[in-house]
Amino acid sequence: MSYCRSIRTCVRGMVFLSLILCSVIHANAQSLAKSDTSVVSLQPWMSNSLDPDTRADQMIHEMTLDEKVQLVHGAGWGVLRKGDLVAPGHNGGAGFVSGIARLHLPDINLADSAVGVRMAALESRYATLLPSVIGMAASWDPDAAFLYGSVIGRELRAEGYNMSIGGGVDLIREPRNGRNFEYASEDPILSGVMVGQLARGVQANHVMGDIKHYAVNDQETGRSTLNALLDERALRETDLLAFQIAIGMAQPAGVMCSYNHVNGDYACENDFLLNQILKREWGFKGFVLSDWEGTHSTVKAALAGLDMEQPGTKYFGDELKQAVIDGKVPQARLDDMVHRIVRSMFASGVIDQPPMPRSVVDPFRGRDDARKIEEKSIVLLQNNGVLPLSFNKIHSIAVIGGHADVGVLSGGGSAQVDAPGGNAIDPKPGTEPWGKPVYFPSSPLRYIREQATAGARIDYDAGNDLDQAAKTAASAEIAIVFVTQWMSEGQDAATLSLPNQQDALVEAVTAANPNTIVVLETGGPVTMPWAAHVKAIVESWFPGIGGGEAIANVLFGRVNPSGKLPVTFAATELDLPHPHVTGLTERIGNNGADAAAARDQPRNFPVDYNVEGMAVGYRWFQQKSLKPLFPFGFGLSYTRFDYSNLKVDSDAKSVSFELRNAGAQAGDEIAEVYVTLPASAGEPFRKLAGWRRVSLAAGASQTVEVPLNPLYLSIYSTSRSAWTRPSGDFLIEVGSSSAQLPLHQSLHLNAR
Ligand code: BGC
Repeated sequence: MSYCRSIRTCVRGMVFLSLILCSVIHANAQSLAKSDTSVVSLQPWMSNSLDPDTRADQMIHEMTLDEKVQLVHGAGWGVLRKGDLVAPGHNGGAGFVSGIARLHLPDINLADSAVGVRMAALESRYATLLPSVIGMAASWDPDAAFLYGSVIGRELRAEGYNMSIGGGVDLIREPRNGRNFEYASEDPILSGVMVGQLARGVQANHVMGDIKHYAVNDQETGRSTLNALLDERALRETDLLAFQIAIGMAQPAGVMCSYNHVNGDYACENDFLLNQILKREWGFKGFVLSDWEGTHSTVKAALAGLDMEQPGTKYFGDELKQAVIDGKVPQARLDDMVHRIVRSMFASGVIDQPPMPRSVVDPFRGRDDARKIEEKSIVLLQNNGVLPLSFNKIHSIAVIGGHADVGVLSGGGSAQVDAPGGNAIDPKPGTEPWGKPVYFPSSPLRYIREQATAGARIDYDAGNDLDQAAKTAASAEIAIVFVTQWMSEGQDAATLSLPNQQDALVEAVTAANPNTIVVLETGGPVTMPWAAHVKAIVESWFPGIGGGEAIANVLFGRVNPSGKLPVTFAATELDLPHPHVTGLTERIGNNGADAAAARDQPRNFPVDYNVEGMAVGYRWFQQKSLKPLFPFGFGLSYTRFDYSNLKVDSDAKSVSFELRNAGAQAGDEIAEVYVTLPASAGEPFRKLAGWRRVSLAAGASQTVEVPLNPLYLSIYSTSRSAWTRPSGDFLIEVGSSSAQLPLHQSLHLNAR
């Protein structure tokens, strides 16, 4: 197997390859066009003038029982498990469903692609690592989310995949959840909008999109067995609302049900979640596929609304066929499963415009897109006058820790993208192994060197020895410490503390140099006992392949930071609704991250989310009058913004206000709108109801209008099985974070 030592060497070979491929693709397209009319006369569903449902029905009419069953399950673990059979046509992704060649139905090749296409190196290919999803959400920029999905869709197609299995929209209820970097936010509206836009971006490339893990897969400890408890109103107003928004916005081909139980039933055989809510109430037309080995039965799952077992045939192969023959699963239900799959293939365009396998991606375009998104995602958490660094005044900088000399950290598990040239801290060919932190070759040190004054001294210290690090810090005008928190699927962090004694490293550097800046590369919130002692704090999340450059651009002021926190950073885990991760029984080394005890535990236990219920994240802190380290929605800029003149229309359909850039630099502000419902609603906290990201030149002002979706001013009434707007006094607040809201107006609204 060959591999690329760097993006550049990859590209030289790729350019030649792509010239050959282009001519092959062109020739292919020509021959397809010629054969179109003859195909359509025999197989009318191949005419794209018909709607996807009619086309699916016509094709299904021609299918045998065996062919139908073949479509509702995967072909096994394939490349994911050494020694497993890899079906012909399998493109090297996490999943594969055989098509039906005689009917012109292509195979489905599914690839994990939460933050970029996974396992590309297995086929000697390259894929762009985007910033983590939580970072993308920190941009609060729906266009950036769409671009994010477009990069994924573009590269999936170029690599011959026709379905993404990314799109994680589980709420960040548990800030130590190992997969928070794959999710967006603790707020359902921010999560739903950003992930919905992401999935739209994927699907705009004629690739089937996916939203996962439905539902309440909010921690990894015990994920395949735990029973998430949350009463219906809270479920609908929080975790499910995020799915409802994302699914409504993107109309994805697939929804992946999660491993865990929800209120007693496994999510993948949960009639309430799948049939009643997703399909009937929300009108979802695509198919429900199980998480990998998340199917637990044949008849129960099929009747509850599961449409496809992944990755194998245990329940939806011969057993399902027999159940249909025996009448335990009606033929109509099997036809419905198949209809949902085939109509999604027609609707997404994967039949009319199939991806061209073995093509190449454009790594430079991908990297530039990743950098641009990261530049909007970085959150400046603290700045006591040290940033931006004035490149012409600083003559020495000490860069310490975080492997900043070679690259930036990425998240692990099924979201792991292969690093070009291998892990930057331990380069080896091929795909990355599960369970090891992987660094991407985007060195912050390199870009800091490029942007600093010519002749300035920039030293690097790995940060392994505290005395040595302090010495390096003491010898420079500015010290920049990079700290990391590796996170991965399959395990949660036991605590919110940075692992590997990095708090002590920051303290040692701060004691040696009063001008210390901390750059965080984390998968979610962490505690910072040293916050008051450092000059500046920059959260870069897992920054993606353009990360080193984006971080330097923010540090030196080429980019004015604009990201805002999509999650609350608690001062201590004692302030969380669950001070300890439920079910995580041991705290062993490295923050629990490499402890067997922290992994999937084969135990069935309840996780009682009714403790906080609707008061997820910032709402909990408000309700309990707790002061977080950094609040939801918070982020600084190198300029200042003034808010004035709030106007709310009489039915609260929209708000408008004046926003002025009162500083000396151009910048983007994310203006946030919160609503507190009347006391009778029983929700004693403000909730995000809308926002707008606005770019303003220095001194400029703008009237900003933010529409308010009536759903976000409503509650879910379980007695009426409906969303209703309560009657009473609503409080609308506007400002720069959930804790900084200079504008407010009360208004009386009638029930709706
Ligand atoms: C993960 C899914 C992923 C699947 C296939 C599972 O372990 O939970 O998110 O898509 O594996 O790799």
